[in-house]
Amino acid sequence: MGAGVTQDLVAHGHDVVLVDRSDGVLAAAKEEIDRYALMARLLGRDAPESDAVSGAVSYGSALECLQDVEFVIENITEDWDLKKEIYPVLDRVCPAEAVFAANTSAIPITRLAALTARADRVLGMHFMNPVPLKKTVEVIRGWHTGDAAVERALQLLAATGKEGIVVKDSPGFVSNRVLMLTVNEAIYLVHDGVASARDVDQIFRSCFGHPMGPLETADLIGLDTILLSVEVLYREFGDSKYRPCPLLKQMVDAGLFGRKNGHGFYQYS
Ligand SMILES: NC(=O)c1ccc[n+]([C@@H]2O[C@H](COP(=O)([O-])OP(=O)(O)OC[C@H]3O[C@@H](n4cnc5c(N)ncnc54)[C@H](O)[C@@H]3O)[C@@H](O)[C@H]2O)c1
Repeated sequence: MGAGVTQDLVAHGHDVVLVDRSDGVLAAAKEEIDRYALMARLLGRDAPESDAVSGAVSYGSALECLQDVEFVIENITEDWDLKKEIYPVLDRVCPAEAVFAANTSAIPITRLAALTARADRVLGMHFMNPVPLKKTVEVIRGWHTGDAAVERALQLLAATGKEGIVVKDSPGFVSNRVLMLTVNEAIYLVHDGVASARDVDQIFRSCFGHPMGPLETADLIGLDTILLSVEVLYREFGDSKYRPCPLLKQMVDAGLFGRKNGHGFYQYS
């Protein structure tokens, strides 16, 4: 998601500092960002030249690289134990006026904000995948989020041709409270032998006109991210309707993460 957000911001003239703890991920992200810019130009879209893209993005593995930024969009793994470590560091490293936007699938924004001394400048920005192609972003207002931070987030989105829909803080917000339940239940249908993944997806495409079925969507999001998100919902609501399907857990244990590594409910490449 970090690479997708970067592609979109750079395409709209912003400078980005992309941080990941893994050098391998940074190298792959650079390749993807450069390839995306090249493809956009080949397709005749209004996209920056390769040199401009290279100049607009800097890469680093330490959060200290973010010391001069105005706006942070945090996209690390959907894992509370990881996220809770970085917010106090971001708070210390980044300029006092910087806004922190968490691109989380389900983790409460109010809890992330409480890790900082700037809760009025912390909000959620739930981007959809692939980021450059999705025109709407769920903007989540935490308990203490101020109007000024929401306004800055909406302006940033507007500058990238996107609309923000502001919702209140609740685990999974609007989109994933519904989507994760649907995806998990679709996986149960395959697990229970009611239908194949292909047939489940075909029913959603043909009967309801969805562009993608729930299992194709799961592969696109990443089965590891789906499992982590369903686990957050299960823990937060304490409601058995969010219990993760054993097939989902087994596929993640087996290293089937979906499109990102070529194997999921479908094979890629
Ligand atoms: N995948 C989607 O379609 C999607 C959509 C909307 C929101 N999200 C949310 O966006 C976030 C990222 O999702 P993803 O699918 O890209 O996850 P991912 O697990 O594929 O990538 C997360 C990246 O974070 C890095 N990371 C982990 N801990 C770090 C740390 N302490 N410092 C620096 N880097 C660190 C990892 O190296 C990894 O490259 C999650 O919170 C997820 O719920 C994902």
